[in-house]
Amino acid sequence: MAKASQQSHRKDEHVFLAEKFHDDDRRNDFDHVHFIHNSLPELDIDQVSIGTKLGNDALRSPFYINGMTGGSPRTGKINRQLAEIAALTGIPMASGSQTIALAEPDLADTFKVIRQYNPSGFVLGNIGAGHGVEDAKKAIAMIDANALEIHVNAAQEIVMPEGDREYHWLDNIDQIVHHVDVPIIVKEVGFGMSRESIQQLAEIGVKMIDVSGRGGTNFIKIENERRHEKDFGFMSAWGQSTVQSLLEAHSADTDAQIIASGGVRNPLDIVKSLRLGASAVGVSGEILHSLLHGDPTDTAAMIMSWLGQIQDLLLLLGARNLDELHTKDIYFDPELVNYLQQRDIH
Ligand code: FNR
Repeated sequence: MAKASQQSHRKDEHVFLAEKFHDDDRRNDFDHVHFIHNSLPELDIDQVSIGTKLGNDALRSPFYINGMTGGSPRTGKINRQLAEIAALTGIPMASGSQTIALAEPDLADTFKVIRQYNPSGFVLGNIGAGHGVEDAKKAIAMIDANALEIHVNAAQEIVMPEGDREYHWLDNIDQIVHHVDVPIIVKEVGFGMSRESIQQLAEIGVKMIDVSGRGGTNFIKIENERRHEKDFGFMSAWGQSTVQSLLEAHSADTDAQIIASGGVRNPLDIVKSLRLGASAVGVSGEILHSLLHGDPTDTAAMIMSWLGQIQDLLLLLGARNLDELHTKDIYFDPELVNYLQQRDIH
């Protein structure tokens, strides 16, 4: 029981600290990617569709609320509000890690609200990669999930005061991918992915990968703040940015769908991610920040305006849909060109 309440407290701390660091440094690698302006779009807004597909599921929105929270009374309330927002706007929503509710079933209600308040929405469950098929099925059933996120978070665990030191995850992921009947997304938690990691996941049959890169919520900073000694500050720039990770995915030999998240601040970051090959885009910190500074209707209004602005940006670029967006010219600042050269990405 003491363990469960300690874990509950951690969930509250994650929210509090994510918000504390939110405004620290708002620049990231999306600022080093630019579109070439097009003066003659030759389109009208009604011709522009921003829909996408995740596996076989058609989604009207190319972005969604990515995995964050649940597991304490306070974060249960946040999940309920996020579910209301998802229902109002029609965008998908992922749960935070349900691991805590597998160990302590009393806490399942703080996740079940995700389905109760959004009965017909597209909802994703979330567990850590240390879990097997039975736990995956329980997490899916808990919220009647349409898909399941499995998070890989070694960098976070290293810094987390109570973190694991045993990372044998590929077999679990392999089993879940082949024995669970909803689509599986393997995701990072803000440290990005190399082409080698993407390749390894694709080789065991993972069809959707969220590279979740550096540039937004930083779990090394968050976990370091929770440490008594605060002695991991030297690692705060660890990992690949979301843009670097999307470029890594280009050179991986796979047809797995790539999802972008990590440091997405606005509709332009979403459109850049889609242009760089993401099928969809997850947003966590920015949506949490909005919710903590207003009420759910304000956040829903922000999301509705983002949906309109994404459509505006495609119009401006002369792209009727996400396929046409892929043909639009971009250029990179020297930092990214340097990265591409050193990693031999063309
Ligand atoms: C997260 N994230 C996360 N991811 C996950 O797979 N399971 C989880 O339980 C959590 N918990 C969590 C709590 C809080 C408060 C935040 C803000 C984030 C990570 C999240 O899904 C995402 O990968 C990163 O936050 C990077 O995206 P942003 O926040 O920069 O948009």
